[in-house]
Amino acid sequence: MPDPAGGGSRGPLVAIVDAVDRDLPDLGDVEALARIVRVASVDELVEHLDELEIVFAWNFDRPALLDVVPRAPRLRWIQSISAGVEEFAKPVLAEHGVVLTSAAGVYDPGLAESVLGFLLALSARIVEDARLSPGSWPSEGTRLIRGTTALVVGAGSIGTETGRVLRAAGVRVRGIARTPRPPDDVFERIAGPDDLHGELAAADHVVNVLPRTPDTEELFDAAAFAAMKPTALFVNIGRGATVDEPALIEALRSGRIAGAALDVFDVEPLPDDSPLWTMPNVLVSPHRAGDHEGWPRDVVALFVDNLRRFLADEPLRNVVDVSLGYAPGGRS
Ligand code: OXD
Repeated sequence: MPDPAGGGSRGPLVAIVDAVDRDLPDLGDVEALARIVRVASVDELVEHLDELEIVFAWNFDRPALLDVVPRAPRLRWIQSISAGVEEFAKPVLAEHGVVLTSAAGVYDPGLAESVLGFLLALSARIVEDARLSPGSWPSEGTRLIRGTTALVVGAGSIGTETGRVLRAAGVRVRGIARTPRPPDDVFERIAGPDDLHGELAAADHVVNVLPRTPDTEELFDAAAFAAMKPTALFVNIGRGATVDEPALIEALRSGRIAGAALDVFDVEPLPDDSPLWTMPNVLVSPHRAGDHEGWPRDVVALFVDNLRRFLADEPLRNVVDVSLGYAPGGRS
């Protein structure tokens, strides 16, 4: 049901679209500067299309929003609550002068700490220990992560924060970015996509942070897994579509790589019959590695900051380059 959530009687019309009926932190004094409606679906948005200027997009049928863009003559800006915006980053936005901003940055700390946890869980055999049952008492030792080398594929803001956290644990960090750049205080080397396979061969751990774009689909294919060390651990916190999942399963089954921690999948939730659920060297995480407690508050703070900028006619944060499919500086 449409549920007006307060707001001023003038200023731009902002729609908060969320199919989930959750308590949101309030928008502070910007509520006096904008008119705000809360709706649960794009269907409920339709009656506001003539006046709609801004959409704060939570969880709902996202492609449906793109369908109504041509019918919203005043729409200027969509703020997504996710860092990955593959469902929104479509030419129809540019064609109608609509700016898309992502939530890049909000999820960096949670993702970075989760990656450290994943690598420790696999190396220190915590995954294995959590599955022990009476009668089993294995004696293989653990593997240290200090002194190992991680390759972060996607050296943008999430990748950089991940690298920073891994370095603090004594891991050497290298990166792959769309454009190579000089080393910095996190990355020993940042190579371009052409060097991917060479870098995979040198890494003890491979952390995939890539967004889904036409360039990244199934970048991790059988050849990529074949390039990795047999002792390598593969972590995916990017998008499932960047991995050829059957090739990954085969690499894990055959011992071509040692293990994987996966937060994202081809199909989510991961189907019940996926072999990934029961593989001893696999940690399945339900796409929540970035969702630290308090993330909605952080997303609202980003939106409020951007709303102030919008009202002051200043540049917005995290503007997505629709042709790239992400906000440069966010995921890369
Ligand atoms: C995102 C996510 O924010 O994967 O893109 O949760």
